[in-house]
Amino acid sequence: MKTKITELFGIEHPIIQGGMHYVGFAELAAAVSEAGGLGIITGLTQKSPEDLANEIARCREMTDKPFGVNLTFLPTVTSPDYPGYIRAILEGGVTIVETAGRNPQPYLPALKEAGVKVIHKCTSVRHAKKAESIGCDAVSVDGFECGGHPGEDDVPNMILLPRAAEELTIPFVSSGGMADGRSLVASLAMGAEGMNMGTRFIATKEAPVHENVKQAIVAASELDTRLIMRPLRNTERVLTNEAVERLLEKERELGSELGFEDIMEQVVGVYPRIMLEGDMDAGAWSCGMVAGLIHDIPTCAELIGRIMSEAEEIVRGRLEGMLA
Ligand SMILES: Cc1cc2nc3c(=O)[nH]c(=O)nc-3n(C[C@H](O)[C@H](O)[C@H](O)COP(=O)(O)O)c2cc1C
Repeated sequence: MKTKITELFGIEHPIIQGGMHYVGFAELAAAVSEAGGLGIITGLTQKSPEDLANEIARCREMTDKPFGVNLTFLPTVTSPDYPGYIRAILEGGVTIVETAGRNPQPYLPALKEAGVKVIHKCTSVRHAKKAESIGCDAVSVDGFECGGHPGEDDVPNMILLPRAAEELTIPFVSSGGMADGRSLVASLAMGAEGMNMGTRFIATKEAPVHENVKQAIVAASELDTRLIMRPLRNTERVLTNEAVERLLEKERELGSELGFEDIMEQVVGVYPRIMLEGDMDAGAWSCGMVAGLIHDIPTCAELIGRIMSEAEEIVRGRLEGMLA
């Protein structure tokens, strides 16, 4: 399939694996890229720019196809060494960066001057337009369904994607709730040039996370995610578990008095315990409603191959047949 996104990134299929904390290691990024999609290493999961440089080198050993790095700009007081991470990206010869979180403007000149293609992930049309105006090459439009941080506007993709199509000139991909060929065709119908998936890629053979995480996604239904940190305006969609229910109880109890320190136990430093050790009640971890559509653990090549053949069957068989 040829779209503006496959052309922009030099990839075979318009499918991107979004950056994911403690999931987006070289193994997954390389597997997605090898399968013809765009794999993405999560920059900040690497503790230092040197570690990111090593991760990029490891990925390069596993694939000679294009892959990217995610840089998430956090709303924290003590900022990570972003200039250092960008240096590692440029010196590692990475030509695609997925930015997310806060406005990437301060870091764009360094990336653009080096010829890096930047796709910014955002959850509203206004932020997408801002990304376009500051020179991003594409955007990833993340609907309310998404795993991770859906923002505070609560607009699902059925509305958000056509709205993005109305307002944007640069190409965009859908993100949030995407799992299969149906998702891809629907995204293209709504004006996207491809799709970005997070949760779906965790339940793959190559995702270097504990088997418990993959099984939890397969077992979950579309009713099993919760929105946490709403009172702090830092909403995150996570899979429910004991820790999450405790956290929500605290949010209800404290109401507007809630501070970050009240929920730290459930959210700070829990990712390694969950993703690497499989301690599924250790705390809150991002997961999309799309878990309800995930029933197996294929390889990335099987998944992407299946999505592309399903999409073709829908377009050539089902849809074209309806017009005949
Ligand atoms: C476990 C997990 C961790 C994530 N970590 C990040 C992250 O560090 N940075 C980021 O930009 N997005 C992160 N995301 C969001 C994904 O890149 C993607 O936008 C989202 O998962 C799309 O929604 P979906 O899960 O419905 O496919 C994360 C998502 C998950 C499920």
